[in-house]
Amino acid sequence: MAILKIARMGHPVLSRPADPVEDPTAPEVRRLIADMVETMVDAQGVGLAAPQVHVPRRVVIFYVPGDEDEDDDDDDDEAPLDDESSPQPLTVLINPEIEILGDETSTSWEGCLSVPGMTGAVSRPDRIRYRALTPEGEILDRTASGFHARVVQHECDHLDGILYPQRMTDLGQFGFNEEMERRLRQEAAAEEDEAP
Ligand code: NI
Repeated sequence: MAILKIARMGHPVLSRPADPVEDPTAPEVRRLIADMVETMVDAQGVGLAAPQVHVPRRVVIFYVPGDEDEDDDDDDDEAPLDDESSPQPLTVLINPEIEILGDETSTSWEGCLSVPGMTGAVSRPDRIRYRALTPEGEILDRTASGFHARVVQHECDHLDGILYPQRMTDLGQFGFNEEMERRLRQEAAAEEDEAP
C-alpha cells in the first residue's frame, strides 16, 4: 500500500471523463483501491475518486461519518431509522451510475482534497439511486439522501471531470475555509443580536 499524490484543480486528469473498469476484481484494481483508502485516510477526507490520484478510471471510495448530517432535520427521534442518510461504512463504487429521484434539492458546504483549503456552497438533488459494481464484482444498488447522496454525487462528478466549484451558482459562497468559517460565525452572532 502507498499514499498517493493528490491532483489539484487545474491538473488535466481532473477535467477529463474517466474510463470504465473492465474487471473490478483485477489485482491492479484491488491495489488501486487499497492505495486510495490509505490516501483518503491520510488526507482525512470522506471520499476520493481515482482521477484525484492521477488514475483516470471509474472508481470512487467514500464513507458517511456518524455526526456529519447535523443539519439534516429529518433525523428526529420519532422518524424511523433512515438507512438512506444514516452513516455508511467505507464503500467502494466501480463504474457507478446515478439516477436522480424527485425534484428536491438542498444546498450545503462542500470541500474537496483537490481544492485544498477551500469550501463552497453547492446545490444538489436531495435523493438519488446509485448502482455500481463492488470490488468482488457484485452489483450494488442503493438509494441515498442527505449527506450520503451529496458525497456520492460529488465523488461521481470527479469521474466526469467535474469539480464542485463547477456546480456552484453563486461564487460569492466560495472561499478559504478560515474566512468562510469566520464569516459564518459573524453572521450567526449578528443573528443572535437581532433575536428578541
Ligand atoms: Ni472532491
